[in-house]
Amino acid sequence: MKLFKDDTTGAIVEVVLAPEAVQEITINGTPARELQAGTTDAAQEKHVPAVMQAGDELKVQVGSVAHPMLPEHWITNIWLEYPDGRVEKKTLHPGEEPVAVFDVTGEEGTVSVYEYCNLHGLWKKDVELSK
Ligand SMILES: [Fe+2]
Repeated sequence: MKLFKDDTTGAIVEVVLAPEAVQEITINGTPARELQAGTTDAAQEKHVPAVMQAGDELKVQVGSVAHPMLPEHWITNIWLEYPDGRVEKKTLHPGEEPVAVFDVTGEEGTVSVYEYCNLHGLWKKDVELSK
């Protein structure tokens, strides 16, 4: 998965199939910036996803100290990327808990969990699924 952001409009574009084939994206004639996880100077404990597996459920909370979910500062999305590149996503809204639960029945290997904060950007944590 790759994410690109247009800093003029705030638009974010997801590339969820063959991301390795995409090197750049242009939005409204302007090259978008590829988002890199964990490059913003902000509180790690409020942004790095805290991931807990209970059987077939993978619970993601942002972060180990819950991130604010205010209209001016919130977690917009949480993504789960499987080793073969499949991506699941949950969209969040201000006032909700910064939590997503994914069904990982039959899945194995190392998954990547991403979250996007509207002020502090993209964050990621890799997790090995247990059987
Ligand atoms: Fe934040």
